Amino acid sequence: MEQYDLSTLLIHGGKTTDDRTGAVNIPIYQTSTFRQERLGGNVEWEYSRSGNPTRHGLETLIADIEKGTHGYAFSSGLAALNAVFSLLQAGDEVVISRNVYGGTFRLLDQVFQHFHLSYRIAQGETVEDFAHAITDATKLILLETPANPLLSITDIRRVSEYAHQRGAKVVVDNTFMTPYLQQPLELGADIVVHSATKYLGGHSDLIAGLVVVRDEELAQRIAFVQNAAGAILSPFDSFLLIRGIKTLGVRMDRHSANALKIAQELESHPCVGRVYYPGLPSHDGYDVHVKQASQAGGMLSFELTDDCDYARFFEYLDVVALAESLGGVESLACHPSSMTHASIPSHLRKEMGISDSLIRLSVGIENVEDILNDVLYAIEKSRK
Ligand SMILES: Cc1ncc(COP(=O)(O)O)c(C=O)c1O
Repeated sequence: MEQYDLSTLLIHGGKTTDDRTGAVNIPIYQTSTFRQERLGGNVEWEYSRSGNPTRHGLETLIADIEKGTHGYAFSSGLAALNAVFSLLQAGDEVVISRNVYGGTFRLLDQVFQHFHLSYRIAQGETVEDFAHAITDATKLILLETPANPLLSITDIRRVSEYAHQRGAKVVVDNTFMTPYLQQPLELGADIVVHSATKYLGGHSDLIAGLVVVRDEELAQRIAFVQNAAGAILSPFDSFLLIRGIKTLGVRMDRHSANALKIAQELESHPCVGRVYYPGLPSHDGYDVHVKQASQAGGMLSFELTDDCDYARFFEYLDVVALAESLGGVESLACHPSSMTHASIPSHLRKEMGISDSLIRLSVGIENVEDILNDVLYAIEKSRK
């Protein structure tokens, strides 16, 4: 299958058909256990925590499309991250970028720290910022690019090269880009993690997480943790996720085209301050982003000027829903300082550039004029 284009692999990659019946979709093997022919025989499937054919289909598919060798499906993005952190030991250190997803930070800060796994925060997005944070105890570097909510960009290749010189592995949370737009393993990262709840699922109807690696030893260790801790994805959700991934390419093309158009329009709007979208040449990370990703995806943020009341903006949205989460076919708006980033003290938020007037959009795949008109109308109505 390797010879095929990614948009073909999304549909035909992995083991997602059924040899026994010819069904073009792998059935939902809704079973906890499997009948064994004889005692001590060699069985492919024995118990669905250790392995299930539907989940296996998804796991081989994500491995193919992320250009890895092994994929693992978990019950949420955080369960996937939990499995990755479980590879470490007391005394080890993780370096994270300062704008990783809040739940990732909470997992390290309030769960793993109790087991003497410490973390350090890179104070910016550059290789130098990461280099500054790495110590001899650093075993893992975790980054997101683009990162929430300012869509800041990190050079995956350069950070990976540096991390490897220092004996650390690099994990990229590729949730915002998906393998259709960016393939971190090809850029030198060691582990890719997804909240598949977002673009991979694509329809805001499931919670799931994925891990992909291309190293046999790492693969065996993740497989061991997946089975030992048991936070596996169910057969039904595995089926839904395979179904979602089939349309990932067309959705990401449309998300990216819609978001680019909206970002361009907002950039010249008198009531809008900065627009953060890695597909705009004015974005700080533009040069790096275009080197490592094929398009800029569906996430963008913008600031309303002081002439507008940001709270009123949300009242006048109609097509776009005020909601947490992202990556579904429907457009969503959120207010980072009171929603996704509310747990960060306000002075720290300001230092990070997250002002109260910042609005984040997950641009869906509706008609772009309908989304744009909705946003422009709400801006107009928010004028003081
Ligand atoms: C970038 C990123 N990583 C991880 C997660 C956690 O994923 P889940 O909600 O599927 O546990 C999220 C959730 O919002 C996220 O945005």
